[in-house]
Amino acid sequence: MDRRTFTKTCIECVGGVIIPSMLIGCQTTYYTNGTLEANGISVSVSEFNYIKKDKAIIRQYIIVRNDKLEFPICLYRFSDREYTALLMKCTHQGNELQASGDQLHCSAHGSEFDNKGKVAQGPAEENLRSFKVSADHDKIFIDLRS
Ligand code: FES
Repeated sequence: MDRRTFTKTCIECVGGVIIPSMLIGCQTTYYTNGTLEANGISVSVSEFNYIKKDKAIIRQYIIVRNDKLEFPICLYRFSDREYTALLMKCTHQGNELQASGDQLHCSAHGSEFDNKGKVAQGPAEENLRSFKVSADHDKIFIDLRS
């Protein structure tokens, strides 16, 4: 492989890896207060939906931010009935996490967590706190007792 071919191949590879991850990172983060209930907080299933250029799109995650919560909760959607609710509090030293695509990142010391709350990169060693989630056609309920 000559130098020109090698350089062209590298640019194509980098573009194929970096550009899709940039697009995920550019998704607009959607925040909701949710509705406080006796044992938890609920959000409407429709809050995952939006329209872009006449196309119906389903958000990968939304963030529930409510004055009654010490930290926001990132609610990831995997299917109509499968969600994960993760407390956005870093298990290293308690910094608030940032969501980006299918990862949660800590700006304090660089820990990363996947969309199931598992540590992907330290220094954090413990997984994120997660809550039980139940869903029907209209509503998603996050059980804060769990
Ligand atoms: S507080 Fe998050 S990595 Fe240290």
